[in-house]
Amino acid sequence: MNLSVQLAPKNKRGLLLANPVMTASGTFGYGTEYSHLFDIQRLGAIVCKGTTLKPREGNPQPRLAETPSGVLNSIGLQNIGAGAVIKEKAPIWAGWRVPVIVNIVGETVDEYAQLARELDGVAGISALEVNIGCPNIKAGGAEFGAKPEPAAEVTTTVKANTSLPVVVKLTPNTADIAQVARAVAEAGADAISLINTLKGMVIDTSRRRPLLGSIFGGLSGPAIKPVALYMVYTVAGAVDVPVIGIGGITTPSDGLEFIMAGASAIQVGTANFTNPRAPLDVLEGIEQFMKDEGVKDIAELIGAARR
Ligand SMILES: Cc1cc2nc3c(=O)[nH]c(=O)nc-3n(C[C@H](O)[C@H](O)[C@H](O)COP(=O)(O)O)c2cc1C
Repeated sequence: MNLSVQLAPKNKRGLLLANPVMTASGTFGYGTEYSHLFDIQRLGAIVCKGTTLKPREGNPQPRLAETPSGVLNSIGLQNIGAGAVIKEKAPIWAGWRVPVIVNIVGETVDEYAQLARELDGVAGISALEVNIGCPNIKAGGAEFGAKPEPAAEVTTTVKANTSLPVVVKLTPNTADIAQVARAVAEAGADAISLINTLKGMVIDTSRRRPLLGSIFGGLSGPAIKPVALYMVYTVAGAVDVPVIGIGGITTPSDGLEFIMAGASAIQVGTANFTNPRAPLDVLEGIEQFMKDEGVKDIAELIGAARR
């Protein structure tokens, strides 16, 4: 059986994965935290926590709330910063078989440019995933990915500052996700991943206050799966670059739905918090499905529900 997928066919380096199952940024640390729990080298790729230029402490507590079939988080990009990723994490990743993708996030276009430059050519880093679901400080805090123009500007800038394959990660918090997807594809994105979390909130009625320290958070987990699937299906029909499906994937069947909707690869996120082996379980279930159904190549399943 062939499960391998090429996620950056137009890029010189390419981004060839042995299989389509990846981990989602912010839910699997730097991979190192999970390496004693199962053979993480069997995964298609690992995406690390969102990385900023300087280390960040994140938002005030509480930063997590359970919701029906989901989780609301307002971690606020707590991370060790690009310098520590390069010095402490990349040398470990360089010894791994599984490719590691660094998720980057900036508050200005210049910060994205600088991050792309600093991470370019670092051994152990196979690609960048650009999180455009964060506030653009210079534009009054609107998410970069809420509109096509700023989304394209970030993409063009990152592409101009790195030779690594660039995956642009879309936010669902936009009026027309297909339009944003087309803009980033035209700006040179090698692949598109989606979705990031949906904006939400919870109120603690006993305190009569918002539960999260920063009032709003991002919703993830099974609760968002139908929305994510709809968006992945829509985007896969709107662009001709590979699409990576994310949102509530917990079981092999969830993963297969995204692949049949048109995703060339998938990411497992919130499911890691209840089952750290979730990405491997999803992979093994997809392999079993292929065996049972006599599918020789994963390509036969990608977009199967569209034909
Ligand atoms: C605790 C937590 C932290 C996250 N941190 C990041 C991040 O740093 N960068 C990013 O692009 N997405 C981040 N995400 C979003 C996930 O990568 C993913 O897009 C989203 O949770 C939807 O997938 P899921 O339902 O499988 O979790 C985070 C999600 C959670 C739950």
